[in-house]
Amino acid sequence: MEKLSDDLIEKYATSGPRYTSYPTAPNWVEIKVRDQLDWYGSAKDSQRPISLYFHIPFCEERCSYCGCNTMLTRSQDKVSAYVEYLLKELEALAKQGIKGRPLRQMHFGGGTPTYLLNEDFDLILGKVRELFPFEENAEIAIEVDPSFTRPGQLKHLAKLGFNRISLGLQDFDPKVQEAVNRIQSEEITYDHLVQAKALGFTGVNFDLIYGLPHQTLESFTKTIHRVIEMRPDRLALYNFAYLPKLLPHQKGIKEADLPGEKEKVDIFFRAIKLFTEAGYEYIGMDHFALATDELALAQKERRLYRNFMGYSPKSGVDLFGIGITSIGETENFFVQNEKDINTYMRKVNMLGLSGARGIKLSEEDRIRKWTIIRLICHFYVSFAEFTTEFGQDFKDYFKEELAGLKEMVADGLLEVHGDHILILDPGKILIRNICMVFDAYLKGEKGAKAQFSKTI
Ligand SMILES: C[S@@+](CC[C@H](N)C(=O)[O-])C[C@H]1O[C@@H](n2cnc3c(N)ncnc32)[C@H](O)[C@@H]1O
Ligand code: SF4
Repeated sequence: MEKLSDDLIEKYATSGPRYTSYPTAPNWVEIKVRDQLDWYGSAKDSQRPISLYFHIPFCEERCSYCGCNTMLTRSQDKVSAYVEYLLKELEALAKQGIKGRPLRQMHFGGGTPTYLLNEDFDLILGKVRELFPFEENAEIAIEVDPSFTRPGQLKHLAKLGFNRISLGLQDFDPKVQEAVNRIQSEEITYDHLVQAKALGFTGVNFDLIYGLPHQTLESFTKTIHRVIEMRPDRLALYNFAYLPKLLPHQKGIKEADLPGEKEKVDIFFRAIKLFTEAGYEYIGMDHFALATDELALAQKERRLYRNFMGYSPKSGVDLFGIGITSIGETENFFVQNEKDINTYMRKVNMLGLSGARGIKLSEEDRIRKWTIIRLICHFYVSFAEFTTEFGQDFKDYFKEELAGLKEMVADGLLEVHGDHILILDPGKILIRNICMVFDAYLKGEKGAKAQFSKTI
């Protein structure tokens, strides 16, 4: 894939949503648990398979760049108490008509999920298996900080059925690691990769971040080469979100130490070039996968999906989030759990669930969500499929949007044919800009006010 011209970068560099949901989170509203119960009640008869996300917020120390929902603790008692609430929430959720539905996917994210002890995982997996039959190829995934796993823990997880793993790496450069308070040797990262593969994990992912302090094109190129030698199945290359006003712990990072915008763009395109030359497919936004990996296959076969965890090869599921801040998603609504751990525990104790924000989708929301997912995941939208799904003509429904795309077509980002839209290579990089044309919420005052990250 070629680097975009400076003109295109200048023209399309703007702020925009990452479309891990549509409508995007700033457009959700405060809700009560009774709203959540009503929404679940209305979906009681659904037989769709389910996906469960467990949020484990704990970390022992904070990496100074971190933008995740984390809590520092050294108390294992606090963690065990939290696990009890996860189990209570799971029971309450199962009673909302989802007990017995097949489980297609389960994901433990954080924070640091390996903060849980083997016994904690036994309890959670035991309860999940009691409530839901697992599909034969169910995906059971976990995010792991290689510097924080317990002896024998990966083996125990594999025995419990875990089969996907994502390892946080960020950058191999010692100077960068020191500046962000995350010292992690190459050996420990590589050892976890080898162990995971030997234990049968597939879709093994490395998380990298570009834009961290002291990174240069030259230094990060070394990290890229080292990563390619190690050859994980998947790569996430995140653009560093530096928000010191919102995240006070990022104040330890001096703005003057960050690479400039031009260098960041160069790093991003260098990564795309080297990873694709080494056999990785560019999945989109910040993700790469080996051509043989399930994620790349799902994209080719146009069954890739995107949710708040990123890209997923499993689609057609209702997602239920368990634990603080976690997000649930069905065809008709999004629900986000309470953020504050004490309020979360109180709500779960009293009401079983803790929904605090969310949105019920209108027919128009569903139509736009369907379209944005196809653009961002498949780089292709079939008009016939749209008509089958919604009984409407794509070109009529999106007359205004298609007119709005004309300049992007002229700039070589995409092609609009008689029966489909096809995204071209430059448009793959600028896919958020293309999706924004279909985002009705950006047209209002609210959209203009919302804070989003840079599209490039
Ligand atoms: C929950 S963490 C991963 C699990 C584990 N805690 C770890 O650090 O290895 C998810 C990933 O988000 C990314 N991340 C965290 N803060 C970020 C930020 N401010 N900007 C961009 N990416 C970030 C990192 O790549 C990190 O590995
Ligand atoms: S990057 Fe991972 S380990 Fe570091 S503070 Fe964030 S969640 Fe914790």
